Amino acid sequence: MVFWKSLFSSSDTATASKPAPVQGELVDIPGANPAQNNSRIFFSLDRDIDLYELEELCDAVGWARRPLRKVKKAMQHSFLVVSMWQVRGARKQLIGFARATSDHAFNATIWDVVVHPDFQTQGLGKALMKYTIKKLRNEDISNITLFADPHVVDFYARLGFISDPEGIKGMFWYPN
Ligand SMILES: CC(C)(COP(=O)(O)OP(=O)(O)OC[C@H]1O[C@@H](n2cnc3c(N)ncnc32)[C@H](O)[C@@H]1OP(=O)(O)O)[C@@H](O)C(=O)NCCC(=O)NCCS
Repeated sequence: MVFWKSLFSSSDTATASKPAPVQGELVDIPGANPAQNNSRIFFSLDRDIDLYELEELCDAVGWARRPLRKVKKAMQHSFLVVSMWQVRGARKQLIGFARATSDHAFNATIWDVVVHPDFQTQGLGKALMKYTIKKLRNEDISNITLFADPHVVDFYARLGFISDPEGIKGMFWYPN
């Protein structure tokens, strides 16, 4: 676990005139910091994220746009918000995101898992999910669920998620 100042303890100092304005707890991802271009990748639990930047990330993977006022409300009422950042000198970029809702005791559901296409297939999605699960487990939450799009079922299965455990089916109700 590292805090902001340690970001600039290495050769980043040469390029960073002042720190990029990331706040909150920042956590190193073991093995996922490419040495290239002095860039490093961090997690943050700060939920005060620029919604336009989050929208850009969601646009990049082709998700349908959602009203920002509702996204803001969803973030405010989430139990956990995890963002993943690439920091290069004084520049920071939002490259991944996940959040979870919860009853704060037994159950949590993970939503909006996304890694920017430029950063996919490097193990970052897995790291993001593992970090999110760890944070939920730290709160003693044992029942973690999510809704997987068909093309990512195997991604979640590799992380230990099971479809239809004991035949239990997710059921949905939509307005007509
Ligand atoms: C799904 C997503 C988060 C995966 O992120 P990623 O950083 O590319 O994934 P990783 O590189 O960490 O992959 C971890 C493992 O899952 C596998 N994997 C990744 N994407 C996969 C997919 N779509 N289907 C099956 N396996 C997948 C990888 O091969 C890797 O396997 P390994 O552990 O055996 O090496 C990313 O592709 C994404 O943001 N997609 C668009 C948004 C989306 O669909 N989100 C899910 C909504 S439910």
